[in-house]
Amino acid sequence: MPIEQATISVMDRGFLFGDGIYEVIPVFGNKLLRLDEHLVRLQNSLNRISLLNPHTDNEWADIFSALLEKNNGEDRAIYLQISRGAYSKRDLSTNADFAPTIFVMVLQVTAPDIEIVSAGISVITVDDFRWNACDIKSTSLVASVMLRQQATDAGVEDAILIRNGIVTEGTASNVFLVKDNILLTPPTGLQLLPGITRDLVIEIANNNGIVVKEREIKEAELYNADEIWMTSSTREVAPVIKLNGKKVGAGVAGSQWKRMMDLYQRYKQQLRGNE
Ligand code: PDD
Repeated sequence: MPIEQATISVMDRGFLFGDGIYEVIPVFGNKLLRLDEHLVRLQNSLNRISLLNPHTDNEWADIFSALLEKNNGEDRAIYLQISRGAYSKRDLSTNADFAPTIFVMVLQVTAPDIEIVSAGISVITVDDFRWNACDIKSTSLVASVMLRQQATDAGVEDAILIRNGIVTEGTASNVFLVKDNILLTPPTGLQLLPGITRDLVIEIANNNGIVVKEREIKEAELYNADEIWMTSSTREVAPVIKLNGKKVGAGVAGSQWKRMMDLYQRYKQQLRGNE
């Protein structure tokens, strides 16, 4: 239905408690990028909050295609949110008798323009005060909103989050670092979201002879990095050119980033070509 007509109850637990999870799935041409992987992560998030998956993978795929058919466009993304539903009382305790609220919409996104992306972004480091369950793609995002605000207040695009001296991720992206031509990224766990783009970048690196290591990264290593990238479904692979006001490497998008960006775009084109 048209978005203006879509409504939910004020008793919805997504609204009252942020008691829900979500996914953002990029669409190129008519192909969903890494649909299977997104559906696996969706299931993980649901398991973590003890909510039954209301649909099978095939049903989800059908819902997405029907919606994409009604919302034409080149580069789009599917936004999917499931909350624990609207209960009759405001009560933290859960009750499986109530059905979840499901919301799916098509986002019109503009594919990142290579010229603009290659100009790079400036970021600051901030203290990662989020909870110890960042592997859940939860709609409880107030901490992320506050952290992004710190970046905005500092006049930069984003922030790299640091927990006890260790790099976790961005406010809505994963972090990669290049040092001596080796690609480094923090391992998955409770401290960060296992990004689908992160996994794709690792896969592309592995398939193209780029050495990639998943290991703990100390904040201090950021300041000696040759390159820093931030990855997400909507941002793809963004080069960081300034960190806390200082140049990263030469202060321009690096050669490894250019190579990865080229490989990433080729992957997308192949996906489109298979239609
Ligand atoms: N965010 N880490 C966090 C905290 C995120 O919110 C995201 C994505 C990522 C990257 O995940 P992926 O590569 O699967 O997009 C990492 C989405 C895009 C959002 O909130 O809009």
